[in-house]
Amino acid sequence: MNEDEWSAVDDYIVDRLLVRDDALKAVLAANAAAGLPGIDVSPPQGKFLHLLARIAGARKILEIGTLGGYSTIWLARALPADGVVVTLEADRRHAAVARANFLRAGLAARIDLRVGPALETLPTLEAEGIGPFDFIFIDADKPNNPHYLAWAIRLGRPGSVIVGDNVVREGAVLDPDSTAPGVRGVRRFFDLLASEPRLSATAIQTVGAKGWDGFALAVLGEDGSHRFDRHRGDASPSDRRPGPLGGLLRR
Ligand code: SAH
Ligand code: DHB
Ligand code: MG
Repeated sequence: MNEDEWSAVDDYIVDRLLVRDDALKAVLAANAAAGLPGIDVSPPQGKFLHLLARIAGARKILEIGTLGGYSTIWLARALPADGVVVTLEADRRHAAVARANFLRAGLAARIDLRVGPALETLPTLEAEGIGPFDFIFIDADKPNNPHYLAWAIRLGRPGSVIVGDNVVREGAVLDPDSTAPGVRGVRRFFDLLASEPRLSATAIQTVGAKGWDGFALAVLGEDGSHRFDRHRGDASPSDRRPGPLGGLLRR
């Protein structure tokens, strides 16, 4: 298996399951024309996020890391007419391209783009009382992922869905001694997902036109509500083995 085959299968998926989408093609063309890096989610991944947001019945979505707004548009399309995506972008140039893309796509009314470092904007969202958010997509600077996860919990509610992009990075996440700030941030993100009692989480590896990477997926609950998650991360292997009734009756 190689990246050409992963890409060819992505093309097949797009051909069979994604309708011809001139609006999103225009977004990618505008991003490229403006010199933005092509680090948006892929089309099948964008639709995956869109479907997750619909499954969650999301009316308020928070996105951290807009770039040209490709993923933002997929998410905005999952909303009812009175829904909103609040999307945070530090780079003014990226934000300007995204704003034009939202207007062209006819979605500007459903998208609230905030320019500035996300760690500065997030407290203002809390002060405005704009949440709670039903769905939160974390896709900005990876070293800050632990902080973004803490904010996602703070701005969410029981049942909120949290998705993190780029949690595998061609296996780089495996290296406990990595000095790369992004890798360290993602590993710390995993540690928090594992240890936070209000979260139930997994991660799914992906291959495709964007190489080998993955999404983390978590649902927020009340403290201690995730009874199927009692044995995580630091549990010994014997603790993890299910007992009678699949461990349902164990305390
Ligand atoms: N979600 C987009 C891709 C985002 S790429 C998509 O799939 O279409 C990551 C973005 O995060 C970049 O545009 C980068 O400028 C932005 N970013 C980096 N650091 C940031 C920060 N501290 N606060 C907000 N945005 C940041
Ligand atoms: C890259 C990809 C991403 O999806 C992202 O959010 C940031 C960086 C990359 O390939 O460098
Ligand atoms: Mg990403």
